[in-house]
Order: sequence, then C-alpha cells, then structure tokens
Amino acid sequence: MAAAWADRLEWVADADKDAYMKKQVPIISMKKICKSFPLEIGGQQQVLFDNTFDVMPGEFVAIMGPSGSGKSTCMNIIGALDVASSGVYELYGKDITTLLPDELARVRNEYIGFVFQNFNLLPKRNILDNVMLPLMYRGLPMDERVKRAREMLKLVELEKFETYLPTQLSGGMKQRVAIARALAGDPKIILADEPTGALDSKMGNEILKFFKKLNSELKITIVMITHEFEIAQYANRVIHIYDGHITYDGPVPKNESVLVKSEQKAHKK
Ligand SMILES: Nc1ncnc2c1ncn2[C@@H]1O[C@H](COP(=O)(O)OP(=O)(O)O)[C@@H](O)[C@H]1O
Ligand SMILES: [Mg+2]
Repeated sequence: MAAAWADRLEWVADADKDAYMKKQVPIISMKKICKSFPLEIGGQQQVLFDNTFDVMPGEFVAIMGPSGSGKSTCMNIIGALDVASSGVYELYGKDITTLLPDELARVRNEYIGFVFQNFNLLPKRNILDNVMLPLMYRGLPMDERVKRAREMLKLVELEKFETYLPTQLSGGMKQRVAIARALAGDPKIILADEPTGALDSKMGNEILKFFKKLNSELKITIVMITHEFEIAQYANRVIHIYDGHITYDGPVPKNESVLVKSEQKAHKK
C-alpha cells in the first residue's frame, strides 16, 4: 500500500519543487464540474452545473454568491472533501478523482489548508496542540512539530497564548489559530469558507488583511468563499456563482451591480 501511494503521488513531489509556480500551470483546474445530491423522496437535486475555471499559483480568488448557490459544495470538491458527479478536477495538473480515499486524505493533509467559518478547533486542547494537529500525520519528531507550530503561532501573533484553550480567546483570535493550523502543514493552497462569517466587522477585517498578507508575502494561493461583496474586495478575482452556475469570472468589479446583472443574464438562458 505504501509503495502504491509513493508511485501515484510522485507528481506531488514535483509540486514541492515549485515547478508549478514557475511553469504557471493551474493549481486548480475545474472542467465542467457538476454535482448532484440524491433526494430522500427520490431523484436528484443538481447543485453545480458545468463549473469550469482555473486558479493559477499565487492568485487570491473569492467565490461569491448568495446563500444556497453552491459555494460550499464547490469548495468541498476543490478541497477533495467531496467528489464531483461529473467533470474533471485537476489539482497540480493531475486528475485527483482517480485517487483512493486514503490518498485523497493525504493530498488534503499535505497540500491544502482549510479555514472554516466556525474555526473547527478542538475545544479541550490548547492552541499549540490545535496548530500541531495537521503535523501528527507527517511522522515528524515531536520537537519539530512543536517548533513548527510555535513559528505559525508567531506568524499570527499569538505566540504568548500557546497554553490557552480556544474557549478563552476572542473569535478573531480563534480564527487566527485556525489560520496557523492551516499553515502548519506548509500548504500550497488555503481554502477558506466564509472565514469572517462568525466575526464582527473589526475582527473580520483583521483576518482579511491577514489573508492579503499571506497571499502577497508568502505567495500562498487563496480561494475564499463569501456571500458579501465587501469581503470579496480583498481578493484579486471574483468567481460569482448563482444557482450553481458561474455567471461572472474576472477582476473584482467596482460595483456589485455587475455581479447582479450577471445573475439576470443567467436567468434568461
Ligand atoms: N450533502 C448534501 N446533501 C444534500 N444537499 C446538499 C448537500 N450539501 C449541499 N446541499 C444543497 O446544495 C445547495 C447548495 O448548498 P451550499 O453549497 O452549501 O451553498 P452555499 O455554500 O452557497 O450556501 C443547497 O440547496 C443545499 O441544500
Ligand atoms: Mg456555504
């Protein structure tokens, strides 16, 4: 089993050499991705329709759309947490739909950092333990895990709080812990689903400025989901989803009406 993994994941080693950064090959490539869920009463509900887009290394993309439009479904596919019903999804140039579940888990662990609206921290573990979590599966010696986690906590300016429990921290601090955890595994992509959704606007802005910094200084590719136009402003590109269809994909428009108009066009189709 271990040998098969190594063979099949050889392409990932290429990515490690930053070949993809230099070649300007898409990190994420979605081709005609459709997703349907079975309905209890029988039949299927189609949630995504022919979603097609690439994300290049170093981009900061906002996936925007009203509640229920399919953003989280799309992100779960990008993050290899779920699989498409049809279409091709390539991560680092390889079709990952052919990987086995445990291989997908490894791809997720090593290449993608997740940030969720509700932080998803372990409430009974201190924040150092929380940040070390993704490193548990790497076979790193304990002292190296601790060193790496401390570096990440320093990056999010929480190094003085390593022994605190998540419940003792503000929402903004909790989300910074979650970002440190997402970064601990040295991912190439950060996927953030409504990362400021549970925060007040001041804390939310701090988190967004932080994402901006990670993107511009550490060159981390960020895909951030939001239903708010103000939040999408922090990105360099907007992909607008409406009822499972991509209706706009381009630079962040000056005015939200551009996106609203794109929804109306989709309606007429
Ligand atoms: N696991 C699931 N099973 C059935 N339906 C789902 C599932 N996940 C999402 N949906 C449905 O897909 C649609 C889009 O949901 P979602 O992707 O969460 O939207 P958004 O994140 O834009 O609010 C909704 O109608 C939702 O009920
Ligand atoms: Mg959602």
